[in-house]
Amino acid sequence: MEVLRIGFLASHGGSNMQAIIGACKTGELDAKPTIVISNNSKSGAIERAQQEGIPYCHMSSVIYSDPKILDETMLEILESYKVNLIVLAGYMKKIGTKTLSRYKGRILNIHPSLLPKYGGIGMYGDRVHEAVIRANDNTTGVTIHLVDENYDTGCIIAQTEVPVLKEDSVETLGKRVLQREHEFFVETLIKIRSGELELYS
Ligand code: GRF
Repeated sequence: MEVLRIGFLASHGGSNMQAIIGACKTGELDAKPTIVISNNSKSGAIERAQQEGIPYCHMSSVIYSDPKILDETMLEILESYKVNLIVLAGYMKKIGTKTLSRYKGRILNIHPSLLPKYGGIGMYGDRVHEAVIRANDNTTGVTIHLVDENYDTGCIIAQTEVPVLKEDSVETLGKRVLQREHEFFVETLIKIRSGELELYS
């Protein structure tokens, strides 16, 4: 399997991205973080990229009012860094059609539930954990899936369960799930790198 050259797309804190960068630095994951793209110039993800010395850029509809230009420019940047795997680490925007088609089967997203439960438009962050608690589920989890043109509908690559405790609040459950996301994203990328898990579209 070719060396993984990861391009990150992130909108907020970037803690999943940080976990992956950390695993690359220790050698646990044989991959290279090459570029961080964020639609939010004040995102933690950009701060983390600066601290880690990873190239980054801010790309949003404010800078590129034409979505086609944004898509084409994003694709050019990803290609210029020879990215062969795009990792969405809390990216809140849709990917443009050119980038989607060029990287078909090579774009991963992480979602804090056992998809198809609690996915789709408007289901992100605390809303997901609120819904899990409201439904009285005693298990939730993490899903890693390929990205397609809709929210959270792409082919599921890997899932892991996380228990919901009786005393859980949205906050405690969210923390437990996020902690598991960090480990699970790295574990899954290691399997992709080794060929144990194959990406397909
Ligand atoms: C995570 O919960 C992830 O599942 C979702 O967005 C959140 C991103 O968190 N897609 P972070 O930016 O990685 O801290």
